[in-house]
Amino acid sequence: MKRSNKKAKKILIVGMIMGALAGILITFLAANQKMHQKNDEMKEMQTKYEEQQSKLEAQIKEIQEESQKEKTLPTDWNLVLVNESYPLDTNYQPELTTVDEKGNAVDSRIAESLNKMLEDANKAGLNPQIVSSYRSYDNQKTVFNQTMQGWLNQGYGYIDAYNETKKSVAVPGISEHATGLALDIVSPDYSELDEKQAETKEQKWLMENCQNYGFILRYPQDKSDITNIIYEPWHYRYVGEEAAKEIMEKGITLEEYLGQA
Ligand code: DAL
Ligand code: ZN
Repeated sequence: MKRSNKKAKKILIVGMIMGALAGILITFLAANQKMHQKNDEMKEMQTKYEEQQSKLEAQIKEIQEESQKEKTLPTDWNLVLVNESYPLDTNYQPELTTVDEKGNAVDSRIAESLNKMLEDANKAGLNPQIVSSYRSYDNQKTVFNQTMQGWLNQGYGYIDAYNETKKSVAVPGISEHATGLALDIVSPDYSELDEKQAETKEQKWLMENCQNYGFILRYPQDKSDITNIIYEPWHYRYVGEEAAKEIMEKGITLEEYLGQA
């Protein structure tokens, strides 16, 4: 081989080796840069992840605190909640005061407020009539059975009659009539317990003013999904003035007020 050829071959080999080394170096540098980039990306992701995690933890804590609150019902006698989830002790017996000549009686602690409300309604030229007030467990059973019999007489099967009845008459044990804090009031011009009761001047006055005496309309319109009871524009419940004002102003139910909806 000629000397010049040998030299060319040597240069070529050295060139190839250098090229390969440069390639490795470039790949290494590129990989290194990528790793740095990846590192930065990972750090960024980790920061985001940590942020999200602490947000989640804060949310969970809030929910836990909220549900803890929900479990704690107030113990004030006037805010007692009686419904399917919160039955009343069947032996509960409030101290009663009779409020009219028909023998209607309520928890003695609300008699004054009730009398004042009815007196003021009278002064406004109205004559609201109490048609039901305190009902013992046994009394509620009678009302329930009578109403259920009505549905059975209309041809409803036993289960359907029971389900229809409990929409307007609480199953014995879960009626707040047994607390002595609830009463049904109607107009002397219209005594039916149906939605038309809401159109009477007595109900209009009561719905507008009841909160000033500590009463609420307990089963308002469009709230049956919460109360499980139909719209009853005749059933009033004493909760105390402060709660009554907030409940009536906000148009909410006692369940919502107590965080139980
Ligand atoms: N009418 C109401 C729901 C009761 O029976 O207690
Ligand atoms: Zn009632």
